[in-house]
Amino acid sequence: MFKILCIFCVPASSMDVISALYGETIEVPCNNGAAMSEDPQLVKWKYDEDDGTPGAILTKGRDPEEVKIQATNSYKDRASITGDASLLIANATLDDEKTFTCMVVTSADIKEYPVNVEVHKRPLPPQIKDQATELENGKLTALGECIAQDAHPPAEVIWSKNGVQLADDGKTIIIETVDTEDPATGLSSTSSKLQYAAVKADVDSEFTCTVKHRLGPDQTSEPQTFSIHYPTERVELEVVSKGPIKEGDNVTLKCNADGNPPPTSFNFLLKDQKETVVDSDTYTLLGVTRDSTGEYKCSLGDDDNLQDAKNISVSFLDVSLDPSGMIVRTVGGSLPVMVQKNSSGEVKVSWTKDNGKLDKQPKFDNLKYSDTGLYVCQFSMAGIKQSRSFQLTVQGQPTIKSITKILSNDGQHKVLTCEAEGSPKPSVQWSINGTNEQSSYIDGKLTHKITVVPTLNQTVTCTASNELGVAIKDITLTSLNWENNDNREGDDGDDQAKLIVGIVIGLILAAAVVGLVYWVYMKKSKQGSWKTGEKESGDLRGE
Ligand SMILES: *[C@@H]1O[C@H](CO)[C@@H](O)[C@H](O)[C@H]1NC(C)=O
Ligand SMILES: *[C@@H]1O[C@H](CO)[C@@H](O)[C@H](O)[C@H]1NC(C)=O
Ligand SMILES: *[C@@H]1O[C@H](CO)[C@@H](O)[C@H](O)[C@H]1NC(C)=O
Ligand SMILES: *[C@@H]1O[C@H](CO)[C@@H](O)[C@H](O)[C@H]1NC(C)=O
Ligand SMILES: *[C@@H]1O[C@H](CO)[C@@H](O)[C@H](O)[C@H]1NC(C)=O
Ligand SMILES: *[C@@H]1O[C@H](CO)[C@@H](O)[C@H](O)[C@H]1NC(C)=O
Repeated sequence: MFKILCIFCVPASSMDVISALYGETIEVPCNNGAAMSEDPQLVKWKYDEDDGTPGAILTKGRDPEEVKIQATNSYKDRASITGDASLLIANATLDDEKTFTCMVVTSADIKEYPVNVEVHKRPLPPQIKDQATELENGKLTALGECIAQDAHPPAEVIWSKNGVQLADDGKTIIIETVDTEDPATGLSSTSSKLQYAAVKADVDSEFTCTVKHRLGPDQTSEPQTFSIHYPTERVELEVVSKGPIKEGDNVTLKCNADGNPPPTSFNFLLKDQKETVVDSDTYTLLGVTRDSTGEYKCSLGDDDNLQDAKNISVSFLDVSLDPSGMIVRTVGGSLPVMVQKNSSGEVKVSWTKDNGKLDKQPKFDNLKYSDTGLYVCQFSMAGIKQSRSFQLTVQGQPTIKSITKILSNDGQHKVLTCEAEGSPKPSVQWSINGTNEQSSYIDGKLTHKITVVPTLNQTVTCTASNELGVAIKDITLTSLNWENNDNREGDDGDDQAKLIVGIVIGLILAAAVVGLVYWVYMKKSKQGSWKTGEKESGDLRGE
């Protein structure tokens, strides 16, 4: 309503501007699409030629069929008109940037509606050309040329490093931007050349080129990185082997240089000898010894002044243990133990006997059978472990410590025990046949038991023998079926003695008639047995 009013008051006072896309169809409205509401007799589209002369395009009468193309240039094929009198121009070019005027003829009036047409084109995605293959530290180098092609109006090209826009500072960053126009299409290509003085930190820097245009979002190139060349300023000698170095180790030395590309040749100065390696930065010392301890250096292959040194210290551990191997000693004797060590550092010494830990070095002043065992002495020092050992055997001819007898609870048999010592393990023989033989042998101590049923009074011997000697001891046994008197023998307890007293009293009553003399004799006999017990005698025969 307002617009119509305004057109009536101030016709064609404001010029409309429309933007079209290059190559697309331009639609130029006539009086904002309201032209047909005026019921015109004729609508005519025309334009201003460059020289100001008007050029006719087409006319449209009342009858929809009545469209006449008047143009003779390219508009002849490209122009058409819509039902609401908008002008359509196919395949927009930059030549179409001009003012088109719609003339509306009604019975009462003639009005003109000029429209300014702009044609825009978005540039192609950016391309980086003539990229540098490498940059030299501190030297201004042409890094590349970024081109934004076929734009209208011209695009803006910017360079960024790690996402931050680069600005020309006339020294380390120089950016030259040139626009060129294609004479055929009139489209612009923008080229931006970046010259850049890299620093070492730019090894990982990502360079991008971004094209900005009023049509559509920014277009950014793939990030580019460049290798930066710079000379070596420092070398560092690295001892690659980890942990303390010990005799026999292979020690690898590595010479690290901070230049890029890395140097291809290095010198390794090994004490007074010089080794040059090419296409490698390492040198390995094979099987070092304590004599390898000292100062090592490395330098650049072509510059001995750039060098670094490290001290290498090779640790060593010499140990000896006396005695060693298989050691046989006689019980009661002595065995001196000597440990010697020579090392580059502090050594920890520990002992085990038969895998059990000892809290100190063993001392053998008076050898016991229990000293027999495998003795291991372990030496440890940073990174080095050694051990030495000896196997000690304590031996001795047998001795019999005791021989005892015990009456079984049921009074039917006796258990004889022979306790002997000796090593190697003595074998035991009895002079009586027994059963239920039991034997244990611990730390040279042998306990041998048999069960016997003595049928007559006898002396029984226990014989213990090994290859070093023989020991014999005997014990007197009284017959079990001898009127049960034997029950009070040896270790048999008081209970049995009381029982015997009871039996004796019974016998005495039963034998009361036998007479006083016999009774006296009986009493004396029992007292004698009571007091003296069994006679034991020992005998030891050595070799
Ligand atoms: C517009 O351009 C297309 C391809 O570029 C072509 O095929 C077509 O004939 C053109 N139309 C006119 C009217 O010139
Ligand atoms: C040292 O290097 C030699 C030769 O490469 C190899 O035979 C040897 O096993 C290495 N010695 C050690 C302790 O790694
Ligand atoms: C190596 O040791 C020697 C003697 O102790 C010393 O003079 C020298 O400075 C040391 N070198 C390094 C690189 O530590
Ligand atoms: C210990 O070893 C070093 C180096 O081999 C040697 O010089 C020194 O004489 C040795 N000392 C003894 C006590 O064996
Ligand atoms: C022990 O028994 C064996 C066979 O059983 C026999 O030959 C031997 O005479 C017996 N010895 C004694 C002392 O009884
Ligand atoms: C056995 O010895 C006891 C006492 O020493 C004696 O009284 C007894 O007569 C002896 N018996 C035999 C069968 O010799």
